[in-house]
Amino acid sequence: MNNLNVVILAAGKGTRMYSDKPKVLHALAGKTMVRHVVDCAKLLHPGKTIVVYGHGGEAVPQALSSSDISFVLQEPQLGTGHAVQQAMPLLADEGYTLVLYGDVPLIQYATLHQMQQTGSGLTLLTVNMDNPAGYGRIVRNESGDVISIVEEKDATPEIREIREVNTGILLAPTKLLRTWLTGLQTNNAQGEYYLTDIVGMAVDAGVAVHTVQPAFEWEIQGINSKSQLAVLERTWQRVQANRLLAFGVTLMDTERLDVRGELACGRDVEIDVGCIFEGKVTLGNKVQIGAYCIIRNATIAEGTQIAPYSHIDESVVGADCRIGPYARLRPGAKLHNEVHVGNFVEIKNSEIGFNSKANHLSYIGDASIGARVNVGAGTITCNYDGANKYRTIIEDDVFIGSDTQLVAPVTIAKGSTIGAGSTITRNTPPDELTLSRSKQLTISGWSRPVKNKPVSS
Ligand code: UD1
Ligand code: MG
Repeated sequence: MNNLNVVILAAGKGTRMYSDKPKVLHALAGKTMVRHVVDCAKLLHPGKTIVVYGHGGEAVPQALSSSDISFVLQEPQLGTGHAVQQAMPLLADEGYTLVLYGDVPLIQYATLHQMQQTGSGLTLLTVNMDNPAGYGRIVRNESGDVISIVEEKDATPEIREIREVNTGILLAPTKLLRTWLTGLQTNNAQGEYYLTDIVGMAVDAGVAVHTVQPAFEWEIQGINSKSQLAVLERTWQRVQANRLLAFGVTLMDTERLDVRGELACGRDVEIDVGCIFEGKVTLGNKVQIGAYCIIRNATIAEGTQIAPYSHIDESVVGADCRIGPYARLRPGAKLHNEVHVGNFVEIKNSEIGFNSKANHLSYIGDASIGARVNVGAGTITCNYDGANKYRTIIEDDVFIGSDTQLVAPVTIAKGSTIGAGSTITRNTPPDELTLSRSKQLTISGWSRPVKNKPVSS
């Protein structure tokens, strides 16, 4: 469909969230509700996306700030029809307007696309609910044609029996929508301009009214409270877990996985309980993730094992690596294949070459490490002088003894060995043993102090 514009209603107060933040800025699966809607709308390639905001001042435009979104302020908020009215000056008559809700975060592209396939006229997204309380009811005539939407507060007991409800999401020809909106009245139970009143107007004008149902009920679930948000979060996590299972991923427990972004997995990936994936994460074939790992914006290549309680952030991990338990890869960690990183090792903004190992208690920051390097327990790159950061370069086949400090900038040449307990401040020659250590001495006859015991009477 050409000339599609999207209007996202996000001006509502969200009183029942009991929060200072506008409702649509609360997050579901790590992303604000309104951002979910904006991202979904983007898939339709609309000409314009307009967010109607109100409660919470500039917080919504600030949170979304993007050149391809227009914002209009609705102040005061006089109902859904009034909200759409505010966007109309930005829209040309040609084409269609899709109305979405900022507090209905999980609407899916496939459902909206289906709405676009119904042909000309007004298209409503409706759903049959066992418990329709609170929703506007879809009223049809004997032939099954939609004749109006009646809000619950305005409904007779007979109409309240209707199970088909208005999700609020609709698609209308922009020119007609503009005309209908100017005709809205507030003579209803809530004294508001109801967007839903355009349905009766369409019927009176002989415009076809179509209905489409979403593929899943969770798509149209609106959020009014923290409790509804928590329920929808779990529903969404279950949906994502099932998608992973359908692709052949092994999940030790589908109820103990949180995907807050996009997780792409190869074949035979295994994920133990309690893991959190944030942003964009890619796991290659046969990757194993141990329990309670937090992995954010990372790529992990084929055959790598991440042992429990490891944190990986903005990092790239090669194939057949062994990471953790308790490893921490911070932004800019780039590990080549077959690298081993053990417990309590922190790596930041550093490249680690093929088959190199740092297995215990180390800080590696701003370093370039070659292939087959062994970094001994307790090694620290001293990369920061309080004002500036410097790099440490460790060439291929170096062996760093335990408890070594490498004071950057410094280069440890190929094949060097550094004796344990050294503080290295100057570059080392290749293939030699370098160490800096005070001599060991023994003071004979020295006795250890003893505690003064109280004298017993
Ligand atoms: C609306 C529909 C109802 C439908 C229900 C689905 C109307 C009159 N009723 O009712 O048929 O079943 O949604 O959830 O449309 N908003 C604004 N400005 C306003 C008022 C609302 O931006 O002045 C936004 C809200 O932030 C929210 C959405 O519009 O995102 C819906 O508003 P809400 O007050 O929840 O409408 P309901 O009474 O639930
Ligand atoms: Mg509502």
